[in-house]
Amino acid sequence: MAEIRPKQNVVIETSEAQIAVHWREEEYYYPPAKFVGQANLTDPDILERFSEKNFPECFREYADLLSWDRYWDTTLDTSDPPFWKWFVGGKINASYNCVDRHLAKYKNKAALIFVPEPESEAPVSVTYRELYVRVNEFAALLRDFCGLKSGDRVTIHMPMVPELPITMLACARLGVIHSVVFGGFSGEACGMRVADSQSHVLITMDGYYRNGKLLDHKAAAEIALSTAKHEGQTVDKVLVWRRHAGQNASATPFVKGRDFFVDELLPNYAGELVAPVPMDAEAPLFLMYTSGSTGKPKGCQHRTGGYLAYVTGTSKYIQDIHPEDVYWCMADIGWITGHSYIVYGPLALAATSVIYEGVPTYPDAGRVWRIAERLDVNIFHTSPTAIRMLRKSGHDEPTKYNYHFKHMTTVGEPIEPEVWRWYYETVGKREAVIVDTWWQTENGGFLCSTKPALDPMKPGSAGPGVPGIYPVIYDENNQEVTAGSGKAGNICIRNPWPGIMQTIWGDHDRFVTQYYAKYCKNRSSKDWHDWPYFASDGAVLAADGYFRILGRVDDVINVAGHRLGTKEIESACLTVPEVAEAAVVPVADEIKGRVPEVYIALKPGVQASQEIVDKVNKVIETMIGKIARPKHIHIVSDMPKTRSGKLMRRVLAALSNNMKTGDITTLANPDVVESIRELVQGKEVVALTDGPEDLKRFGTEE
Ligand code: PRX
Repeated sequence: MAEIRPKQNVVIETSEAQIAVHWREEEYYYPPAKFVGQANLTDPDILERFSEKNFPECFREYADLLSWDRYWDTTLDTSDPPFWKWFVGGKINASYNCVDRHLAKYKNKAALIFVPEPESEAPVSVTYRELYVRVNEFAALLRDFCGLKSGDRVTIHMPMVPELPITMLACARLGVIHSVVFGGFSGEACGMRVADSQSHVLITMDGYYRNGKLLDHKAAAEIALSTAKHEGQTVDKVLVWRRHAGQNASATPFVKGRDFFVDELLPNYAGELVAPVPMDAEAPLFLMYTSGSTGKPKGCQHRTGGYLAYVTGTSKYIQDIHPEDVYWCMADIGWITGHSYIVYGPLALAATSVIYEGVPTYPDAGRVWRIAERLDVNIFHTSPTAIRMLRKSGHDEPTKYNYHFKHMTTVGEPIEPEVWRWYYETVGKREAVIVDTWWQTENGGFLCSTKPALDPMKPGSAGPGVPGIYPVIYDENNQEVTAGSGKAGNICIRNPWPGIMQTIWGDHDRFVTQYYAKYCKNRSSKDWHDWPYFASDGAVLAADGYFRILGRVDDVINVAGHRLGTKEIESACLTVPEVAEAAVVPVADEIKGRVPEVYIALKPGVQASQEIVDKVNKVIETMIGKIARPKHIHIVSDMPKTRSGKLMRRVLAALSNNMKTGDITTLANPDVVESIRELVQGKEVVALTDGPEDLKRFGTEE
């Protein structure tokens, strides 16, 4: 179905809008009556309250869930598009809202329950009172020992332990901007983020458990610091939390005057209280780096007031969190899901939020359900990859445990209807409502989802826009793709919302070009209607108003719900001296959804060898982390290219996935395709398919 037409001398694919997407419409599932009976959001009037005619004032309803030091004057300021400002003039502190204000009613209630990976270590509860004490003491240390103040940036590279939210909330108390880097990212990846955010302080941990092993995590800090230094950024202090009191899980030597164990410093701040700093609603709360279509990760800068209001409102209405709930989100706090829906949203609502240190299937497939039973978890939140993994490793395990979820979430990737049904029937025991929430690091909180007590569920579809979000699908010609047309296009959000990022840290131009340039109707307009947000996801809109998300339309691979830029992996490959060219494509994986596959061409005169393959593997692991590990590395004689020299990743993606390559006659070197096909698929010709939408459309060619 590929159509070749000239555009700026480049061969491009059939446009989004012309791709018809066929799938079986799934049956509706209705929210269980027991859930509806206790839900926070049961009033259908919400649609009217959050309708366009009440925008932007509708978002007062979310902001009013918070305690403000100063009430705001202007709900939405659109004077400098697309740099929207929310709750302007308001002052607020996120740490106060997640901790202090709950003391009167909930001081003895667990704020956090930490579940260590080894089952021999009992879960540890941190009450709201205890959280208050620990956040204050650590804030005093950050202020008085590290000299940190509002607006400074701190990089946090930590595993899933309660000290991570304590650290974040201590920063927020001072107005220090935290930048949490996923603990599984390599030291180099962490160092690049330290440099980009210009952090002078790195907070880490000696070690943590993963899959039964106590890992040396501090070792990564050493690499991070030398990487940051190479980029021109010096770190003065490294604060190291300790996994076990009195022990050191790291073999890395301490540098005197630079590295400090937190538990050796904290006694100096025992019982100290730090007044929460009233921050401008628009002051940045944190940075969260994510991958895009260039080699350099971008620091999504999130504001204090709007972000906190948005995650609190959506946690209440979409996650249905009440203070008496035990809520467990299995994401890592090092990703946006963990920030919004383990830390800020649930704690702002005084819930009990569970933090699990390790691997869901350690030591066996029943672990997750044992934790749910023991803690009496009633809200469960995870990704399709985790669901697929749990289903494969223990199909009937959930039935052996006596837990009862009222609500479950899936996030991060499209979920296959049959996997959804296992989640609903076996994990949820047909008692729990499911929300399939679509959103992104940039967005702060949910964009599309069903309202759990009000809308029926449809397996595989996220649902309509959540209250106050008006999504639309546009084709490549700026035309709206109509509901029920069966056509795919680019999903956009027509309006600003309080959770949207403020900008890309240090790169305002990239913010505008990446998210707004494509569909902006008038660059000089100050009317938000002219500035739709381009999400970089393909989607289809069914006649009932439910969006089905098809996947990224840029050079991003969604691996187990985590974003990896193909360009980042390619840049890593190119640091191996023997490699002349590298191309990275997604390949379908039964558990992780998509994983990267690498193609490399060697410099003239270099012989292919296992040693080169090993080097490429190693460099990807050290520069990015284990999550980017490729499924295969293929050494090819040449890359498929257009006559203008453009590398055709789409053709490689087709070969990797046994898909039809489409018309390749216009390539400069069509013969190379057959030789790569043999290398990848073997001599026998295999049956080819059309392939899933995201793989068919993979790779920007312009
Ligand atoms: O492609 C979409 C996919 O994950 C991308 C965002 O990744 P990240 O910024 O890491 O945030 C993940 C968690 C918020 C999106 O562009 N995605 C996210 N949620 C869904 C999804 N795809 C399908 N269905 C979802 N529910």
